[in-house]
Amino acid sequence: MFGKLFKRDNGPFKLRIEGVAEPIEVDNKTFLLTAALDAGIPIPYSCRVGGCGTCKVRLLDGKVKEYTDKTYLLTPEQLQQNYILSCQAVARSDLSIAVDDLDLTASAEERITRSGRISAVAPLTHDILQLTIELDGPLSYRAGQYADLTVPGVIAEHRSYSFAGRPEPGGNRRVVFHVRKVPGGAFTEWLHGGAREGTELTVAGPGGDFWLRPNDAPMLCVAGGSGMAPLKALLEQAVVEGVQRDCTYLYGARTQQDLYCEAEMAQIAEQWQGRFEFVPVLSEEPEDSDWPGRRGLVTAFLQEGGRNLSEYHAYMCGPPPMLDAAIAELQAQGIGPANIHFDKFLDKSHAARLSA
Ligand code: FES
Repeated sequence: MFGKLFKRDNGPFKLRIEGVAEPIEVDNKTFLLTAALDAGIPIPYSCRVGGCGTCKVRLLDGKVKEYTDKTYLLTPEQLQQNYILSCQAVARSDLSIAVDDLDLTASAEERITRSGRISAVAPLTHDILQLTIELDGPLSYRAGQYADLTVPGVIAEHRSYSFAGRPEPGGNRRVVFHVRKVPGGAFTEWLHGGAREGTELTVAGPGGDFWLRPNDAPMLCVAGGSGMAPLKALLEQAVVEGVQRDCTYLYGARTQQDLYCEAEMAQIAEQWQGRFEFVPVLSEEPEDSDWPGRRGLVTAFLQEGGRNLSEYHAYMCGPPPMLDAAIAELQAQGIGPANIHFDKFLDKSHAARLSA
């Protein structure tokens, strides 16, 4: 009897995941997401701190202890269906869970930490730099994911940036990021503040679950500021893979001097197998300027031309206010949450990556 009581309270417990043949063993201290990833089961995730909702799973049976309030991240329907955040829940009994879109053919990418050296820093706009790092070994990732950079002696905590180029077979020995200067940001001010080539740093990754899902649905891409980086990588990879979906890419910037990667977008448009449209939208362009394009917020153009949004799958990256407004609008127009993929910064370490 005591044995049973001990087991019920402290584990180890069995975690059954719908679609996975064998249960995995978990204790009462390890987050379910961590336990699943350690067992090679690729539950989608992003922030791992209870801030994004990506790791949500449906609790079918059993008891968990949850460490974060999930109510502001999950919809009333999801709460009613017993969804929990797997990155913030530990087992309190044997459990059964179901994971939406579980792709067992995907590997639960193990993060690798590589040493590297800054080989080039080049301006892309007046406040966004392209940072190129040579690594001491290959680093594999999916187009759309990010890495954590740490620069000893400059920043105590890592900063996360999306890979700005497509992955190479066998892993990249050279990785590229777009770094926007954030006033008061220790890392970005340092990087923008002088010649940094030759600086040693570490690159850990990949992170995040932002990548192109196989499907035939037309794509609506939305990005703001340095949120260009993962979309550029994702689109370049789609070109290489011969993706044939129609794609509209709305890119929000303040003024003409904040626009960049236009040549790269033109090249993607040329090579894209389907209809591809890159649509810059400027929110603070002087009224009397010669800008012939769209003005305002990108969210005002989501349905431009009578676009039937319910047919689309969305891929978005940018600052939270922009993404929150876009997500609300897309959902209101009938795109299901499973077809809205996004990456937004959620804590200090991500702020530099995506602030527009
Ligand atoms: Fe769990 Fe973001 S809330 S990964």
